[in-house]
Amino acid sequence: VFVIKTNEVKAKVSPSMWGLFFEDINLGADGGLYAELVLNRSFELDLPMMGWKEQKDEAAAGHYLMLNRGTTNQANRRYISLTSTKGRYGLSNVGFRGMGIKKGMQYNFSLLARQPKGGSASLVIEMIGEKGAVIGSGSIKPEGEEWKKYKLSFTAAATVEKARLDVLLKDAGTLDLDMISLFPQDTWKNRENGLRSDMVKLLADMNPGFLRFPGGCIVEGRTLDERFQWKKTIGPIENRQMLINRWNTEFKHRPTPDYFQSFGLGFYEYFQLCEDIGAAPLPILNAGMACQFNTAEVVPLELLGPYIQDALDLIEFANGPANSEWGKKRAEMGHPEPFNMTMIGIGNENWGVQYLERLALFTKAIKEKYPEIRIVNSSGTDPVGERFDLLDKHLRSAKADIIDEHYYQNPKWFLENAARYDNYDRKGPKIFAGEYAAQSVKTASPENKNNWLCAMAEAAFMTGLERNADVVEMASYAPLFAHAEGWQWTPDLIWVDNLRSYGTANYHVQKLFSTNRGTDVVPVLAGDKAVSGQQELYASATIDRETNELILKVVNSSPKKQHGTFELEGLSKINGKGTLTVLSSDDLDLVNSFERPDAIAPVISQVAIRNKTIDLPMNPYSVNVMRVRL
Ligand code: AHR
Repeated sequence: VFVIKTNEVKAKVSPSMWGLFFEDINLGADGGLYAELVLNRSFELDLPMMGWKEQKDEAAAGHYLMLNRGTTNQANRRYISLTSTKGRYGLSNVGFRGMGIKKGMQYNFSLLARQPKGGSASLVIEMIGEKGAVIGSGSIKPEGEEWKKYKLSFTAAATVEKARLDVLLKDAGTLDLDMISLFPQDTWKNRENGLRSDMVKLLADMNPGFLRFPGGCIVEGRTLDERFQWKKTIGPIENRQMLINRWNTEFKHRPTPDYFQSFGLGFYEYFQLCEDIGAAPLPILNAGMACQFNTAEVVPLELLGPYIQDALDLIEFANGPANSEWGKKRAEMGHPEPFNMTMIGIGNENWGVQYLERLALFTKAIKEKYPEIRIVNSSGTDPVGERFDLLDKHLRSAKADIIDEHYYQNPKWFLENAARYDNYDRKGPKIFAGEYAAQSVKTASPENKNNWLCAMAEAAFMTGLERNADVVEMASYAPLFAHAEGWQWTPDLIWVDNLRSYGTANYHVQKLFSTNRGTDVVPVLAGDKAVSGQQELYASATIDRETNELILKVVNSSPKKQHGTFELEGLSKINGKGTLTVLSSDDLDLVNSFERPDAIAPVISQVAIRNKTIDLPMNPYSVNVMRVRL
């Protein structure tokens, strides 16, 4: 028999408690969330023809010339000049692992083009299915010698997982082309340059409290030159200079030489996404240090100024008035109102004295100008061992606002560490569990699975985060997305291919917690102890003051059915009704998949409180969330 003390509020749950970690890893942005279907649309990858090949009708002939105007335009250096000497000649684009096209959907094509003096060439645009059939087409006749944008739309005649796009001169002639682009009409909120709607929907459904972006290691880059620089990711998309992705060819079993960041999903779009899904924005900026697993390159302290200025300018970009220097850029992009950012992260997985020295300079400058902004500090890569302890000690004595801890550990670790925060200093910095995921085998290996054991262990651990909501203010699973044919890391919360997407068992756990957050933590006790591992049960409870409901979360990590009796203390009402949502599987190795996306999915039933008591029969290996009106 357990007791829930409904009138003893232990902690307030932060509205941003359960959130999202986004990084462009596993084709998370380009080839994933960012709905652009053309790979290398402006020929800026290191090999300019990556993603493209020549295409022509049988009797046709022609040639192309790649032109580089890098001395006058660094952001968009290259364009292509196509010449047909006879018949239909041009290019085809293979997309990111092919282009996923849906029957009946409108597709919007655009490009920049110009004619040579006196030229009158025209283009035919064709979407080609896997067996060579034309499944959508149109034509464009560029006018004049100036670069202009041209658009056309067509409706796809078939669903194809790996279509290609042909851009051909209709007949003999020459044209200069750049920024060749194709988007589906059904981007999130039908935005031009938008995001894949099925993927955003999965995020919105989670009701996330925050979105951390843009990573992850890509914040740091392999070298400082390859670090993420937010200022290069805003403004007209043709002016956003492409950058090699930190995850390009990282893992031998899945080489991704074509993995670059187009920044079509740039900082403006990240803030917009946060607003769309109701998540507080949490940008993470480079601390003047490249990834310490790679070059460990740092900027000399006396040259850190521009890095710090980037942080100050970002705050102005997000929150400043529309007539401030950076607020104006936000307004020009379509958002005169501020984005109301309250937090900023300095550094990802950085450690050592180099980090502390640089962080101190960032902190001083940010706090002087924007004392209201809270700063997330990195605690390195692993929250155990000497390196962590030392850094943690320094960050605490420097009175850090929030410390970001990451754990990629096995399921046993998650079960054994559910009480990790029970003894943390209540008056010290808040904790952001910024990246975590149970690893079934070995991180990033093909065998590493999003299986039920991992998801259940994470749920048990999360009851510990929730019980300690006075210390733990935010938490996010990582990484978020993975493309089935272009991943570098496993496990991941959501898997996609060109046409489909599904939430893993871990996704359902995250969603269950974030859509059942509550506002006030109340104790669930076995005797005088929190329920954290006794009889292989883990529990936490919150009250939602807005809806006046009690939310009880109980994880049964044992292989047997268990029956929990929870007596409610401090209630005047005796009976009540509610719902029980259960995730469970007898098979700890079970996973969701494209073929069986709902192998592990919530099962909802009606329940009641009788005589101030909740009787909760629990399946073996189950996560149970009960919501009852008080
Ligand atoms: O989530 C994948 C990677 O794990 C992140 O980029 C990094 O921060 C961590 O090491």
